[in-house]
Amino acid sequence: MDLKFTAGNINELPVGAIVYFISEFDKIGKDLKPLDECSGNAITNLLKTTEFTGKNGEIAVLRNVDCFKAMKVILLGVGAKKSLNHDSFRKATGILSRHKSLTSIGKAVFYFDGFEDASFFQAAIEGYLLGSFKFLEFKTGNDKKSKNFLKEITFAIDNKKLLNRLEKAATQGQIIAEGQLLARTLGMTPSNYFTPTDFANKAQELAKTYKFKCRILDEPAIKKEKMGALIGVSQGSVEPPRFIICEYKGGPANRAPIVLIGKGVTFDTGGISLKPSLNMGDMKGDMCGGGVVLSAFTTAVRLKIPQNIVALIPTVENMPSGHATKPGDIHVSRKGLTIENVNTDAEGRLILADALDYANKFNPQAVIDVATLTGATLFILGYAGIPIMGNNQKMKDQFSAAADATAEKVWALPIWDEHREQMKSSIADLTNSGGRPAGTITAGAFLENFIGDWPWLHVDIAYVDQEPSGKAYVPKGITGIGMRLLVNTLQNWKKV
Ligand code: BES
Ligand code: MN
Ligand code: ZN
Repeated sequence: MDLKFTAGNINELPVGAIVYFISEFDKIGKDLKPLDECSGNAITNLLKTTEFTGKNGEIAVLRNVDCFKAMKVILLGVGAKKSLNHDSFRKATGILSRHKSLTSIGKAVFYFDGFEDASFFQAAIEGYLLGSFKFLEFKTGNDKKSKNFLKEITFAIDNKKLLNRLEKAATQGQIIAEGQLLARTLGMTPSNYFTPTDFANKAQELAKTYKFKCRILDEPAIKKEKMGALIGVSQGSVEPPRFIICEYKGGPANRAPIVLIGKGVTFDTGGISLKPSLNMGDMKGDMCGGGVVLSAFTTAVRLKIPQNIVALIPTVENMPSGHATKPGDIHVSRKGLTIENVNTDAEGRLILADALDYANKFNPQAVIDVATLTGATLFILGYAGIPIMGNNQKMKDQFSAAADATAEKVWALPIWDEHREQMKSSIADLTNSGGRPAGTITAGAFLENFIGDWPWLHVDIAYVDQEPSGKAYVPKGITGIGMRLLVNTLQNWKKV
């Protein structure tokens, strides 16, 4: 998508449509008057029939509007003025992004009449790009062709002084949305096209394109690191594991890095503790933590965020086979703690345990792990938000502020001694399953055993990584959730 920017006269622009962002109204105020007049009172008439009153996502198309060279004017409702925020714009452009009035033309103007907030400009392009996403990789013939012909959007305002702010915000929004689309694409790609080896190759391809450091540990190197928990998960698959290490220095050379860790299970059958077949295919998305971490890291590089950042992605396939680990097996983790594998379907925490311990190598100032870790999230916040856990209040607060700024909602859960108790094994140091009670928290309590002396945040994106039906700017399928959250956290990072 080509973005252009202009302040002032849009009447003569040779485009297919001018998109007017309009907040909810019950009479034609002085802001709508000129447009109403040069459209033969079209807006007055729409209001009379209540066809268009500016509710969020409402769309009305006006043709033959005298004052514009554009073929048509699209009225796009953003909702009630008093509850207006960035997500109002994300939702509105998300809905418009699939509307034929827009997708059938090549060039459009997004006209922000009376709106000055940078977060609105950013959200408008995010909503458009996220809403119009279609995963066509595996379609063929005519179905493979995009039906969206829009190639160029001109962002327009009246006030010249705001032009710079507009350009900065929209450009940033485009980069962030592209990052989220990357995360979605990685998650949507089926496991036979996205193995741990493919994941590592993808990371190296991105490293080449965006010029960052990326190393891969192969199976012998992982064994040399004594990552016994990771190997325990991986050993049932014919696909060898990989451990991805990306590094970016956007901050002063001597500043400790922020380490991001992402669960990269490219397919989770459950292993010998096999999952039921209903919806098992969704488990191609069990690498979404890793996908989001790789995307956020890449986006941080593209935005030149002034921090030192490390991304660690342990990636494996969890399969049953003659080589697979069996319930009751004990693994020796990299840290030396022994783990009784009572349920081979609790595999994510095993690979994260070794990755958390590996993070010590970087002397991190803070560590954030992101994982589709527990099905129990469904019974906590449902699809509405992300449970987080951690050992540092400031870090949780920063993350919550990022959630407010990106509309990727989070809520902190505690980890108490009762939960830690659930994760003790009678024959090893730890068990990998504490049973059903507080399943999301006990997974966090397990991970806590492997952290070093640093602030740590655990982000469980299970279920919210997939949208079951489709929302304004989140089409059905993998959501890429966590991507905007991580990038915003890194952008506004303050030492904790
Ligand atoms: N990948 C799953 C969690 C998951 C479930 C993600 C549904 C997305 C949607 C994870 O590896 C898992 O199987 N967790 C088990 C742990 C249990 C055996 C202790 C779970 O949550 O049931
Ligand atoms: Mn599992
Ligand atoms: Zn899993």
